[in-house]
Amino acid sequence: MNYDNILSQFQNGITTITINRPNKLNALNIETIQELHEAFNMADLDKSTKVIIITGSGEKAFVAGADISEFADYDVEEGQELSAEGQELLFNYIENLSTPVIAAVNGFALGGGLELAMAAHFRIASDNAKMGLPEVSLGVIPGYGGTQRLPQLVGKGRAMEMIMTAGMIDANQALNYGLVNHVTTLEELIPLCEKIAGKIMRNSSVAISSAIKAINANFKDGINGFDIEIEEFGNCFGTEDFTEGTTAFLEKRKANFPGE
Ligand code: COA
Repeated sequence: MNYDNILSQFQNGITTITINRPNKLNALNIETIQELHEAFNMADLDKSTKVIIITGSGEKAFVAGADISEFADYDVEEGQELSAEGQELLFNYIENLSTPVIAAVNGFALGGGLELAMAAHFRIASDNAKMGLPEVSLGVIPGYGGTQRLPQLVGKGRAMEMIMTAGMIDANQALNYGLVNHVTTLEELIPLCEKIAGKIMRNSSVAISSAIKAINANFKDGINGFDIEIEEFGNCFGTEDFTEGTTAFLEKRKANFPGE
């Protein structure tokens, strides 16, 4: 499939989706959000894709935010619609995807860019990365889940400070806050993501999908995560992967998961 604003490449079980608007520091306009939705959907449906990596093109930015030029003259209703549609199409969509998503944060991840990275299942940053939610400096608040996911990841007080000051933190501070799992050089960023993806791929993709659902349930209002864990745990017993995983262990060999 051909896209105007993103690239999607498959290799060795990994689909790498790259936001490709370097002249605009990969800012997320509505068309890019739509294309990302399609690319994530295609990768999730493709059984040979075991892990998805999301990154930005160029050496300067992951994503420098939602495209400010697009919403500068919006009214109240249009603002709400922009936020609701974006959350549904991309941010909540990625968080709930059954295929693991790693964000490779390769530079500025601001506003919608940090929100995109936070919607991924976990994040790895290059040492030039700078992260922040600067929306209040524009007279608006984060609208793609930032007020919810940032406190989940770094704690309420740190999220309050980051959002109120509109400031940026560097990669090492993000590591210290638990916002990213690892920091490496820009050259090593994708190789490190691929190395971790390789470790994920050795395991049952069906069990991993169940784990994503159970972990996410911890952060959903009105849902008892322990109940979801019980349900997903039980579901695993009905899968071919479970039969293969337990049989392989008892036969003292490496499991070869069918992913069913
Ligand atoms: N929306 C639209 N365009 C953006 C953008 C955004 N969020 N972020 C960067 N761009 C565009 C710039 O307008 C500029 O376009 P131009 O060359 O046509 O003028 C281009 O990307 C390069 O950005 P520039 O500002 O010249 O780069 P810089 O190195 O001087 O500064 C940043 C980098 C990230 C500090 C700066 O671009 C910035 O503050 N961006 C906005 C961040 C933000 O507030 N995001 C939250 C949005 S809700």
